[in-house]
Amino acid sequence: MNKFLIVGPASQMLGVKIAKNLNIPHINTEFKTFPDGENYLRLNLEDETILEGKEIIIVQSTGPSASRDQNSRLFELFMIIDAVKRIGVAKIIIVVPYLAYARQDKIFRPGESEFARVVLRLINSMEIDEFYVVDIHNPDILEELSCKTVNIDSMKILADYIKSSGAKDIVVVSPDKGAVERSKAFAKHFGENVPVDFFEKKRDVKTGEITMSGQLSLENKDIVIADDIIATGGTMSEAIKISKESGANKVYAAATHALMLQNAKYRILAAGGDEIIGTDSIDNELSKVSLADVICDYLK
Ligand code: R5P
Repeated sequence: MNKFLIVGPASQMLGVKIAKNLNIPHINTEFKTFPDGENYLRLNLEDETILEGKEIIIVQSTGPSASRDQNSRLFELFMIIDAVKRIGVAKIIIVVPYLAYARQDKIFRPGESEFARVVLRLINSMEIDEFYVVDIHNPDILEELSCKTVNIDSMKILADYIKSSGAKDIVVVSPDKGAVERSKAFAKHFGENVPVDFFEKKRDVKTGEITMSGQLSLENKDIVIADDIIATGGTMSEAIKISKESGANKVYAAATHALMLQNAKYRILAAGGDEIIGTDSIDNELSKVSLADVICDYLK
């Protein structure tokens, strides 16, 4: 076998699914936090020579969870890359469905760091061969990597899930004017003439507080609100509230990366959301749609 897949601690379900789909062996990791807070990780193998000269696919998302923050997830990724490099493999392909810090892609206030780019520069310094990510917040930052990069689109599989759950008379609503183009592309997966509308969103750069405005004609329509990330649910819950006030029937809250931090689930349901749909870029109970097949289409 010329290929192996390393299942990172943050992507255990997705990693195994991808390995099965590609019909290649998978290896998991042993990981822990030392008493001083440092991360530890080793590949769970006894004979390193099985990886020598092989093509290695590493699957590790870097979103926060109850047991690990995104810094630890990034360090685990670096440790896996370093371990396979030391062993001497032929090729390193990394799949990072959710890239931590991707939203820190611009300078919003004086004195800030454009840290999303720093994360990619660190990955680049490890001399990998290919980098796959899913619906990255700002694809422009991928220019920091000198290897092949692919930003995979999860829109079709999210739309397929929503269609199969019986949504009718759909309007796609963008929670932000800036995301309208993405919402238009998303709407095409529901049919040729599915309308797209949007709200105006403003975020206070100091407090992070969101305000949204707009009045749409959504009477008796099923609404799909799609975003790349649900973090605290502030954006989504505001968009749902206004959709409901505009006459919406059922509201589907869809996101590629459903981080669901703090009271996000409550806020979305309390605002009137009927269903929250995420992918397994984040391994939680809302990962109803698996990215495995679409990622494999690129890896094959
Ligand atoms: C922002 O530009 C993103 O696309 C999302 O709208 C945002 O990250 C969601 O964050 P939250 O759920 O905290 O409003």
